[in-house]
Amino acid sequence: MKPKVFLTREIPPAVLAFLREHTDLTLNPADRVLSRAEIIAGLQGRDALLCNITDAISAELIAAVPSLRVIANFGVGFNNIDVAAATARKIPVTNTPGVLTEATADIAFALLLATARRLGEGERLVRSQQWTGWNPMQMLGTDVTGATLGLIGFGRIGQAMAKRARGFDLNVIYWNRTRLSTAEEAAFGVTFRPFDEVVATANFLSLHVAYNPETHHLIGENQFATMLPSAILINTARGPIVDEKALVEALRTQQIAGAGLDVFEKEPALEPALYTLNQVVVIPHLGSATIGTRTKMGMLAAQNLLAACSGQRPPHCVNPQIYL
Ligand code: DGY
Repeated sequence: MKPKVFLTREIPPAVLAFLREHTDLTLNPADRVLSRAEIIAGLQGRDALLCNITDAISAELIAAVPSLRVIANFGVGFNNIDVAAATARKIPVTNTPGVLTEATADIAFALLLATARRLGEGERLVRSQQWTGWNPMQMLGTDVTGATLGLIGFGRIGQAMAKRARGFDLNVIYWNRTRLSTAEEAAFGVTFRPFDEVVATANFLSLHVAYNPETHHLIGENQFATMLPSAILINTARGPIVDEKALVEALRTQQIAGAGLDVFEKEPALEPALYTLNQVVVIPHLGSATIGTRTKMGMLAAQNLLAACSGQRPPHCVNPQIYL
């Protein structure tokens, strides 16, 4: 018998075709985020939930679907799911690590370049037909080559960022909960520094940690106060890692020079000033948004849920203790 799957949002066609072949699939017909009640209704009698990072999978929702055997997230981050509640019911929760590393690092580096070289501002000027011609003092940005890139978090995406930084002769310093071995640091060409030192000395500070209660507002008023006035903050991880109100204040008072942001505290809403501050480049959570990457994410999510439904431990289970 094919497992009964509820998918909360349309995903790339190759994945839909695979799911239709291997599962009994129900897809949210409306291309929007469903309410909790709608997800519960759609899930009744189903074995598997294939959800997105915008779906809040709470303890109440999990408790309301006794048939649920697996929660497969379409994303590497899983802070949208109450994993403790799923674990208490022995329901595996899975994610999609690895396949979105390069695409996300590309976006982080693109934001670094775009913010340093004022691409958003420049594009707005040209499109508004206000550009009056080349000017020796117009839109002078920040040099990237030879600057110091500070990485907060040195997992897969942080490491991919370090690889990109090499091509720009950046000096890369990093902080991570676990320090790499000397040989690994040499291979990546990076230097470990304490958290506060990375924050205070980076010309570009890029965030690559998971979001959890410990990383909530990891970058806030105290950190902005120590950053270089020329510093640029890059966030492609999760919005609430940065205190967005404190960020706006730091930008307004020129405690830091700019920010390149793919993620926000209360997506899709932004702290109002971020819509207008010129020294900010903002994009709509595009880190993994390539057709190839989203297809790989979907295939991984599908493999995870099929494994769980056949009683095996899924390849990417974030609560493996349920199998002990
Ligand atoms: C993830 O997978 O966590 C990303 O934020 C989605 O792009």
